[in-house]
Amino acid sequence: MIQSSLHIHLADKKQSEVSSGLHVAIIMDGNGRWATARGKARIFGHRAGADSVRRVVEAAPSLGITTLTLYAFSSDNWKRPTAEVTALMRLLRLYLRTETEKCIKNGVRISVIGRRDRLAPHLVAAIERTEKATAPGITLHLRIAIDYSSRDSILRAAMAATATPHLCRETFSELLTEFGHGGSPAPDVDLLIRTGGEHRLSDFLLWESAYAELFFTKRMWPDFGVDDLAAAVDEFRARERRFGAVPTAMVV
Ligand code: FPP
Repeated sequence: MIQSSLHIHLADKKQSEVSSGLHVAIIMDGNGRWATARGKARIFGHRAGADSVRRVVEAAPSLGITTLTLYAFSSDNWKRPTAEVTALMRLLRLYLRTETEKCIKNGVRISVIGRRDRLAPHLVAAIERTEKATAPGITLHLRIAIDYSSRDSILRAAMAATATPHLCRETFSELLTEFGHGGSPAPDVDLLIRTGGEHRLSDFLLWESAYAELFFTKRMWPDFGVDDLAAAVDEFRARERRFGAVPTAMVV
């Protein structure tokens, strides 16, 4: 009885995945090494990485992706040299300035997750403008993580949770959205991709990725293209997600 209800749950989950689309999260790693290998400064790699972002955002809806979360700047990235941090922040502002119109046209809603109190006021203003202007978009929810730390988000939500009676997973997820720099609500991550050959989560969406399928590739982020994204999604669709249950074929 328990088994069959589990399988109904799994079928529901697959069904809801089909109807609501996939949440793909990407740790865009390898920009620095890509640039260094070409004898260029690291920021050159970040600029090329921003072009990869444009390609991936454009292709995502055609691959069934409805939520895309990109790790653009972690809270630990403040430890990088000031010149690199400044250049990255400039690049993010430039991206928001140049892409907002296109996103409105293509139904892409942009929201930013992460702390805002340490960002420059002009970047915060640009984020708020873009979020407001793209809010009606329903084709793709593009979430950009800036000054983001999953552990800090969880800590903040946990502090809010102490005042919450009858806490359950769903309520905690809501607290994470509301108090943990989570932006607007988003479903759990289905597929988490990391480029650049490392196999780490680097404090990214730890709660939201509890049952995410992980996909690691050696491809450096500036070289990551639409074919790579399609291959990752294909591999994801070929995997059997059991959410802790047993494979269908083994049910007697
Ligand atoms: C990690 O590679 C990458 C980052 C810390 C920055 C990611 C930023 C972008 C892709 C560009 C801007 C983003 C948007 C959304 C427009 P790394 O520098 O750690 O590379 P390495 O491991 O080779 O040193």
